[in-house]
Amino acid sequence: MANRKEKRSRATKEFSRFAKAYDQYNIIQSEVAKTLIDKLASKRYGTIIDIGAGSGKVYKYLLEKDIAFERFIALDSSSEMLDIHPEEESTEKICADFNEIETFKALPVSGEILLLSSSALQWSKDPDLTFQALSKLSSQAYFAIFTSNTFKTLHHYAGIDSPIYSENRLKEVIGRYYDASYEVRHYKLYFDSVRDMFLYIKKSGVSGGEKKLGYKEIKTLMSVYPFDYLEFEVLFAEGTPKGARYV
Ligand SMILES: C[S@@+](CC[C@H](N)C(=O)[O-])C[C@H]1O[C@@H](n2cnc3c(N)ncnc32)[C@H](O)[C@@H]1O
Repeated sequence: MANRKEKRSRATKEFSRFAKAYDQYNIIQSEVAKTLIDKLASKRYGTIIDIGAGSGKVYKYLLEKDIAFERFIALDSSSEMLDIHPEEESTEKICADFNEIETFKALPVSGEILLLSSSALQWSKDPDLTFQALSKLSSQAYFAIFTSNTFKTLHHYAGIDSPIYSENRLKEVIGRYYDASYEVRHYKLYFDSVRDMFLYIKKSGVSGGEKKLGYKEIKTLMSVYPFDYLEFEVLFAEGTPKGARYV
């Protein structure tokens, strides 16, 4: 595995801490990855780059759908997550941060490349930097990104703003670098108890960028939260880079 010195963001630390438990708690992310793969137009690709590949959901669904490829590059800033990503002859793992411009210099840009990213780019610190760099990598890209309406009601009761971007902001940035089409999907995840709900938030890593609430604040929040489910909103984008650098 290419191991770049990790300057770890809060999201990376959170995913690394719960890497082993991640697969038990990633029901929504799993559904999202499956939907993303269902959108692919072809059955055969050259190189696929998966940004924020994690434990390999995207890879798994590619195989499940019999989508062929020659080379698969799994990029993630958490080495713990990459450790549990499947390893085959065709796979390469790169431990790197998509918030760092250096990361993109290490990636291939020639040949037929498909760029995929599922449930990861909401952690981009500078979406302009990230999407501009991504748009130079491939002739085709499919993204699935959680939006600020994820945990909307929870954030409302906690009195905090979502740490991630709105649908409109994401579309605005993606639209600067890609000719893209979009779909927004909503998900609800039901729980037997509010305690299970909060445990899920912790273990799934989806709280990676949240303002940390104190014990007392969480207790109050648990008593006023009106639903037995959590809300998720995901923006799916399918794009070709603007400027036609590719033939
Ligand atoms: C919710 S998981 C999704 C994993 C996988 N794509 C899936 O669909 O199950 C988000 C992944 O993004 C990675 N990640 C978060 N911030 C990152 C960054 N700045 N650079 C690279 N990877 C990052 C995390 O380590 C984690 O593995």
